[in-house]
Amino acid sequence: MTQVVAVYSMKGGVGKTTIAVNLAYCSAALGGRRTLLWEIDAQGAASFLLGREKRSTKARRVFSREVEPADLIEPTDWPGLDLLGADLSLRHIDRTLSEAEKPKRLRKLLQGLSGEYDRIFLDCPPGLGELSDQVFRAADLIVVPVPPTPLALRSLDQVREHIDQDHAGKPPLMPVFSMVDRRKKLHRELAGEHTDWPVIPQASAIERMSIDRKPLAASASNSNAARVMTGLWHQVERQLENPAPKSGRNSKLARIPGTAATAPRAR
Ligand SMILES: Nc1ncnc2c1ncn2[C@@H]1O[C@H](COP(=O)(O)OP(=O)(O)OP(=O)(O)O)[C@@H](O)[C@H]1O
Ligand SMILES: [Mg+2]
Repeated sequence: MTQVVAVYSMKGGVGKTTIAVNLAYCSAALGGRRTLLWEIDAQGAASFLLGREKRSTKARRVFSREVEPADLIEPTDWPGLDLLGADLSLRHIDRTLSEAEKPKRLRKLLQGLSGEYDRIFLDCPPGLGELSDQVFRAADLIVVPVPPTPLALRSLDQVREHIDQDHAGKPPLMPVFSMVDRRKKLHRELAGEHTDWPVIPQASAIERMSIDRKPLAASASNSNAARVMTGLWHQVERQLENPAPKSGRNSKLARIPGTAATAPRAR
């Protein structure tokens, strides 16, 4: 059965693409799973990190059903890992999806690929709109990178409340502390509030990915960052194998220092 993992955050620049690329690589190279990385962000950063240059201008047309996903999927340099890359045409994707009035369009597209892949990773753009609602309807798990800052924790809570209220608490969220610098007191304090969340440290090896343009385990396999990403992938796999019981909603709010207890409720 195909499992869909979205790497998503309402916030930009938090490590989504970095994590999506590395999880997808681990899934194919270490897990031996037929894996697709679907980049649904007009920036095209995942393609860039995998050493691809953009050729197509048709990524948006997959969502309007004028182009089949298979027409844009290409193999990568790593066996078992395919890429459905983005281009700037996706910058109006929210409008395209709203106008189509097909709230399950992404889910249907993913179902159409289910015979081909064991795992599909979605590299999502920041924001909370029509596309992210479609992602929440389609994914089995949402990995949310969270830099250890009050604003990032607050943003996570806003997403949690939205999913609880508008999506009946599904799919489950898996917050991951991202860009953690343990020399900073605030980072240590906030990471200490959620010791069960995976932690990705701030690392030069990760920054260098945009120079090497390869997944970490392929270019810096002995680095701590590569080991951490592999560990994260194992945790994602465990979560997919043992999803939270149906009653367990995403309602546990992050504790944000400096506030009474939790983030303000979304309206
Ligand atoms: N753990 C880390 N340590 C050091 N640098 C990191 C780490 N994670 C991400 N970065 C760097 O931070 C920048 C943003 O990362 P990335 O593109 O993965 O974020 P994003 O959430 O996908 O951004 P966007 O919202 O623009 O899509 C990149 O330059 C990346 O190399
Ligand atoms: Mg990104």
